[in-house]
Amino acid sequence: MMDVSVMNFRGIDKAEFLLSNIILLAGPNGVGKTSICLAVAAAFSQQAIPFLQMSDKGKVATTITKAESGRMVRTGYETGGVRLRDGESETQILWPQCDVKTKGKPPTASVYATGLLSVLNLPPKEQVRALADLIKAIPSADEMKASFMEAGMSEKAALDTVERVLVNGWDAIAEAAKTHGAKLKGQWETYTGESYGSAKGATWLPMGWEDVIAQMSDETLTNALANAKQALETRIASEAVSASLVEELQKKAAEIPVLTSEGERQAITWRGAQKDCEDARKAHAAAVAALPMVEVGGAMAEPLACPHCKKKVAFKDGGLVKVAARAAAVEPAPEAVAAVEAMRAKVAECRELVNLTGRKAAAEQRNLSDIEYRLREAHNADAKAKNLLAKPPADPRPVEAFRDEVRLCESRVEAKRKKEGADRAHASIAANQAYVNLLMPDGLRKRKLLRALDDFNTRLAELCTKAAYKLVSVDEDMAIRYGGRSYYLLSASEQYRVRAIFQIAFAFADGAPVVILDGADILDADGRNGMFTLLGQLDIVAVVGMTMNKPEQVPDLERAAIGVSYWMADGRIREIKEAAQAQ
Ligand SMILES: Nc1ncnc2c1ncn2[C@@H]1O[C@H](COP(=O)(O)OP(=O)(O)OP(=O)(O)O)[C@@H](O)[C@H]1O
Ligand SMILES: [Mg+2]
Repeated sequence: MMDVSVMNFRGIDKAEFLLSNIILLAGPNGVGKTSICLAVAAAFSQQAIPFLQMSDKGKVATTITKAESGRMVRTGYETGGVRLRDGESETQILWPQCDVKTKGKPPTASVYATGLLSVLNLPPKEQVRALADLIKAIPSADEMKASFMEAGMSEKAALDTVERVLVNGWDAIAEAAKTHGAKLKGQWETYTGESYGSAKGATWLPMGWEDVIAQMSDETLTNALANAKQALETRIASEAVSASLVEELQKKAAEIPVLTSEGERQAITWRGAQKDCEDARKAHAAAVAALPMVEVGGAMAEPLACPHCKKKVAFKDGGLVKVAARAAAVEPAPEAVAAVEAMRAKVAECRELVNLTGRKAAAEQRNLSDIEYRLREAHNADAKAKNLLAKPPADPRPVEAFRDEVRLCESRVEAKRKKEGADRAHASIAANQAYVNLLMPDGLRKRKLLRALDDFNTRLAELCTKAAYKLVSVDEDMAIRYGGRSYYLLSASEQYRVRAIFQIAFAFADGAPVVILDGADILDADGRNGMFTLLGQLDIVAVVGMTMNKPEQVPDLERAAIGVSYWMADGRIREIKEAAQAQ
């Protein structure tokens, strides 16, 4: 059984009571109902200064400083305090020291269950964050990992990202992912020279793109380029070779007329030389024939001997004739000797001429065949040149066509490089954007929140049914409604019902043993009955503050067996039955 003791806190002098079922604090204005509610809330939430607000940045702060906390002590006293006991465990707060002392494991409740803060009063962004926290809508590490992998991350990268989210927080990692996305866009823009857009990124094609390029491997394209370059080089080389070759051949062919006439002249010269030679031979033969057939003394050589009779013989008219024996005895006449000598000289001279003219004729013949050879060469060259000029090269296209082919291959290689680079960057951007979307406040966290909201709405519906209230619900867009109407449109008492239902729901979500509902006098009879009916059915302590003018107007919860009603006066608290008797 829990009990509370409050001393010299705000308007309270001294108040002690047990905490069970419903505690109704009733009394006129300014008697200390709220003071007790705040002291109990301070003890359960272990907040020494129970005046809280939430900043735009989601930080819970006290509205008074610790230095100002003395103002919470009842005027005229040095110290005040609250003590919450639950068996052996205890929480004690002393003011103005703001000391929170605990013993054992005292019961605790969140600032939302105790009513020190209401999500309904938070700035919209913080409302989402606080709701997420309260209904346990924060994705677990396993859920995070699964979602990242679903978005395309590897298991290792997903685990790494989970780790970084847990260490640095969602927003820091979302920012880092966004920065990475900007870098990837930069890469895409480098490839394309254009500014990135996700639709553009999905369909972008480089200049000169042909669908056929997509089917070609990098190797095919670079090989085609190398081949085109080679073909161009070969084409340029063959052009140069054939041009110089034709020029050379034509130069040779130009000698044909000169060589032809030179050849004709040389043929005449050669025939002349042959004739001279022929004449010389004839002259020689004549000179030899004219030689005498008889021996002419010692001036002549020994006559030949006949092979049969051994008599002296000599050649005459192709046959042998006998040489007269007496002739040997005859001294030849000197005139005859001189004539023979002259004839012999003539023979030698003729032989010399035969040799000379023979050599000359041979030389002229060589000259002629030389000219004829050169003429044949010239004719060959002429034919070759004509042939070359008439016959087209292996690939007859002009060099410029080869250059165009090289350019085409180059532009294909370049287009593929750009397309693939841009596509890669685009895919990375899309994947990264998927992570960013998950990491943003409205990403994975919101998705989990929506699932948790389903459960939460179910609980809210149960509570509202028990209180016979209209349905309190939270939309998918986090708008809070009562009977389908937006919170800000509701009457003050309707808003109170919503806050009360939320508080109870949060107390359950937290496992808090208490809920504190001050200012319940705003509710009419039906509203109060509904609330008490609801609280009476819950396994939780409720502290309810309610302005009442007279003790007899206060509902007796003890008689209804759902709690205890108290009457407050002069900073003190009394059970309603005692207060009624006192009057
Ligand atoms: N430090 C303090 N010393 C003495 N009285 C204080 C101090 N602080 C606040 N009070 C007064 O204590 C009284 C009780 O205030 P409290 O808010 O508890 O009243 P209440 O019963 O909730 O009134 P209401 O019906 O208006 O809500 C008030 O008159 C208030 O001005
Ligand atoms: Mg009050």
